[in-house]
Amino acid sequence: MTKQAFSVAQEDAQVGRELVPAGALEEMPTHVKARPIPRISIQAFCENASTAGVLQAATGDRRLAKSHVSVHMGGASAAVAHYHESPTPNLIVIETTLPRTQMLSELDRLAECCDAGTKVVVIGHTNDVVLYRELLKRGVSEYLIAPVTPLQLIESLSNLYNNPDTDPVGNVIAFIGAKGGVGSSTVCHNTAWAMSEILKSNVVVADLDLAFGTTGLDFNQDPVQGIAEALQSPERLDEVLLDRLLTKCSEHLSIFAAPVVLDRDYEISADACDLVLEVVRQNVPYVAVDLPHTWTPWVKRVLFQADEIVITAAPDLANLRNAKNLIDLLKLNRANDGPSHLLINMAKTPKRPEISAKEFAVALDITPTQVIDFDSETFGLASNNGQMIEEFAAKAKSAQQFRELALTLTHRREQKEEKKSSPLTSFAPFLEKLKLKR
Ligand SMILES: Nc1ncnc2c1ncn2[C@@H]1O[C@H](COP(=O)(O)OP(=O)(O)OP(=O)(O)O)[C@@H](O)[C@H]1O
Ligand SMILES: [Mg+2]
Repeated sequence: MTKQAFSVAQEDAQVGRELVPAGALEEMPTHVKARPIPRISIQAFCENASTAGVLQAATGDRRLAKSHVSVHMGGASAAVAHYHESPTPNLIVIETTLPRTQMLSELDRLAECCDAGTKVVVIGHTNDVVLYRELLKRGVSEYLIAPVTPLQLIESLSNLYNNPDTDPVGNVIAFIGAKGGVGSSTVCHNTAWAMSEILKSNVVVADLDLAFGTTGLDFNQDPVQGIAEALQSPERLDEVLLDRLLTKCSEHLSIFAAPVVLDRDYEISADACDLVLEVVRQNVPYVAVDLPHTWTPWVKRVLFQADEIVITAAPDLANLRNAKNLIDLLKLNRANDGPSHLLINMAKTPKRPEISAKEFAVALDITPTQVIDFDSETFGLASNNGQMIEEFAAKAKSAQQFRELALTLTHRREQKEEKKSSPLTSFAPFLEKLKLKR
C-alpha cells in the first residue's frame, strides 16, 4: 500500500533546494573515526600496570567486541620467551621502556619467532624520530608514545585494519523511543533524509520494527523484499544482494524496509542483526537504524555497537524514567563513547502538563540535543502524504531542527561567517600587500 491515495497538495515544498550549501560544512575536529576491528586475536605484553589498564579498558570497547584480546606483563622479553614456544597471533602490542638500541635488538629477536602476517604495534616512552624510522623499516606497523588513552589505542588499531582515507566511514546511528509512539521513527526518517540531502552522502534507513515498521509508509514505498530476507540468511548478504533488497527513495537515501505482515514469526538473533548491519555499514557511509520500543538481546546489541544513539522521549514521567535507565546503562557499557543524544518530542502539547527540558537535563545529566514541539498539523499531513517535513513544510521549525540534528550526528557544523566569502574577500590580496609595504 502506498499513500498516493492520501495525497494532499504540497503547500510549502522547495524540492531541489540545497538545505545547507555543501561548501559551507566542516567536520568537527574532535570527531573520532575509529571503526570496528575484525575478528582477530591480539596479545599485549606491557611493562607498566597503567598501560595494561589502558589495554584492558580498550578491550571492553564496542569496536573491539569481535577481537580476542589478552594482556600480559613482562614487555618485549616476555613476548620473545612466549613466542619461542607458541604461534604468534594476528597482532602483538609490545610496551617497552628500553632505550633505542636495546629495544631494536629485542624486536629483532621477536621478529625471528613471528609468523608471517603478524602485525606488531610498539608502545614506547621516547619521542624519537630516528627510532620511529628504524621501527617502520623493521616492519613495525605503528609506534605509539606512552601514555596512550584507550581511544587513541583503538583508533590506531582500527587504522591498521581500515584505511581511514579510503574506506567508507560506515556510521551506524540507532534511534529508539523511551516509550512506544513517541515519534522515534519520525525522528529517524526525517533526520536520515536531512543527512542524505545535506551531505549528499548515501544513507540507508534500516527498519528493524519488522511487524509494524513505518519506513515504507513514511517514504511512500511498498517494497516486496527488504530487511527480513537479509536477517533470514545473513551469511548470504553481500553487496549485490544488498543492492537488490534496498529500495531507493531519493538520490542518496534508500530504505531497508520491514515486511509488516503478521502471518510470519519474527525471531531476530543478535548475531544475524550484527552481521546484516555490518554489511550495510561496509557499503554505505550512514546507516540510520529505526529500532522498535522493545527490549531484547538484539536491540541491546545494536545500541551497544552503534556509533551514535538518539533516544526520543515525550516530556512525561514514564519517558523520563525510561530515558534515565537507558542513558545510565549505555553510559556504563560505552565508556569510551560520547553520551547518547536525548531528543524531547511533542513538547507543548496543548492542555497536557509536562516535565520541562530543564528538569530532564537535571535528572538525566544530559542537555537535550533538540526539543521538538507538538505540531499535529504539519506532522500529520506530512505523514499522510508519505513525505518528510522538509519536503512538505520546509519553513516548519522542526525541519530546521532535523537539519541541526543531522549535522550533530555526522559531526559537521556550518562554517563560521568569517570563513564564507565576504565582500572584503576580493580585496584581501591588496590588503595583504599594503600590510607588507608598511
Ligand atoms: N512533534 C510531533 N508533533 C505531532 N505529531 C508527531 C510529532 N512527532 C511524531 N508525531 C506523530 O506521532 C505518531 C507516532 O510517531 P512514530 O511512529 O514515529 O513513533 P514511534 O516512537 O516510532 O512509535 P512506535 O513505538 O510505534 O515505533 C505519528 O503519527 C507521527 O506523525
Ligand atoms: Mg517506530
